[in-house]
Amino acid sequence: MRIAVIGSGYVGLVSAVCFAEIGHDVVSVDNDSAKIAALERGEVPIHEHHPPELLKRHRGGRLRFSTSIDKSVKDVDAVFITVGTPQSETGEADLSFVEAVAYEIAAAIERPTLIVEKSTVPVRTCDSLRKTLLLNGAKSGTFSVASNPEFLREGTAVLDFLYPDRIVVGVDDETSAKIMQEIYAPLTTGSYYSNKDAIKFDGPTAPKARIIVTNAKSAELIKHASNAFLAMKISFINAVANISEAVGADITQVCAGIGSDTRIGSKFLNAGIGYGGSCFPKDVQAFHAVAMQCGYDFGLLTEVMQINEEQRRRFLKKVRSALWTLRGKQLGVLGLAFKGDTDDIRESPAIAIIEALLKEGCSVKVFDPAATSRAKETLPQKGVTYANDPYDAATGSDALLILTEWKEFAQLDLAKLHAGLKYPIVLDGRNLYRPEQMAAAGLIYHSIGRASGVPEHMAGVLDRTHSGVDGTPVTSTRRQ
Ligand code: UDX
Repeated sequence: MRIAVIGSGYVGLVSAVCFAEIGHDVVSVDNDSAKIAALERGEVPIHEHHPPELLKRHRGGRLRFSTSIDKSVKDVDAVFITVGTPQSETGEADLSFVEAVAYEIAAAIERPTLIVEKSTVPVRTCDSLRKTLLLNGAKSGTFSVASNPEFLREGTAVLDFLYPDRIVVGVDDETSAKIMQEIYAPLTTGSYYSNKDAIKFDGPTAPKARIIVTNAKSAELIKHASNAFLAMKISFINAVANISEAVGADITQVCAGIGSDTRIGSKFLNAGIGYGGSCFPKDVQAFHAVAMQCGYDFGLLTEVMQINEEQRRRFLKKVRSALWTLRGKQLGVLGLAFKGDTDDIRESPAIAIIEALLKEGCSVKVFDPAATSRAKETLPQKGVTYANDPYDAATGSDALLILTEWKEFAQLDLAKLHAGLKYPIVLDGRNLYRPEQMAAAGLIYHSIGRASGVPEHMAGVLDRTHSGVDGTPVTSTRRQ
């Protein structure tokens, strides 16, 4: 198939290289000429494992780049719209980029073309897109509109595309269904997986990807509802973690217990300092706004967002409790990105916590394997220094904070960490260690939803059942 992908951001670029990888002729379009020039040179602007390899494989062959929508959409079978849908001031998704692209597509298409929205959009966007295309010159009968939501995660985006749990295709006519089925056939028939050069998956996989064909509105709803459900799962477990902490239970044991019920599932049950990123915060808010417009107050989502905010405040309270006073203290910080394996700091809980600590008069010495240069653009210069590695961040610090779940932060040399720290205190917002393990290494360890780890020689003085070393239970600060 011949495919144009409009927008070369995260979703657009990953989709373009993956469509080329499964055998299609692809043109990736963006109005940012510097970005297109960089891609043409083989440079990848995002921190992801496979795009550089796929770009090298297909650039100049099945994959081209362009800054012109007009020239790119004239002779293709399908146009995927993957431009940004940022959050507006009212919490709704701002669809002005989608609309602007629709004007250009409408003026350019000459032959039957399927226009597919892949950006995260509110339900009923397909209807608005269809209307906009018609009003701007696209002739009825020359185009159809479909929804094909993307479920890729940053850090594993290419694998999520090529080995999806499911492919959701929302169409309102048979021809569109056939085109979408043909586009994804290499995955749904499994032919891609038998190709010897196929990108390999490092876990158990199904021999074929599953495709779910729905109407367009259902597909749009599936995207928002999926992200909102996952965010709800995280907030739910964070709320349970707070109870677990109060009663002296262990949230990792609780998760193992509830997650092994196949109806619940063990994924996305890691308690911590809450979710961030470019999707969950924006999508939960947008879904709430969509519900309101439909006349339904989706109060559950309000609570999901509040619990998420509350997790950061509770963590800050733990830091205060562990250190008694904060003014003038130096804190080593591991993690800036909103999660591990990415350089993305958008809506990162780590950044929010660092900013709050700076306001309270601390200085921070931070380390992140990938997100430092992006963080430098956001964080103030005053009070922030950048460390070369985790041990450098710990050296001379009054305590060490773990704020992002990078795999390398879970495998540190604890003796070396201990030796560098001024006080042997670690506050882990991602539960990367077991409290006993940290206590055995001589570290006072506070995490989420578990008793603190206290070294043997301090056990008589410090209370393990509370989250703060001064014995003050950390309580909710949320106003009722
Ligand atoms: C998410 C969705 O997973 C993906 O399907 C969608 O297409 C885009 O949004 P992403 O934002 O890349 O992907 O990150 P994800 O791995 O989902 O993590 C989101 C946030 O939740 C991160 O801040 C992460 O640290 C946090 N998280 C995740 C938890 O706190 N606990 C968990 O158990 C899982």
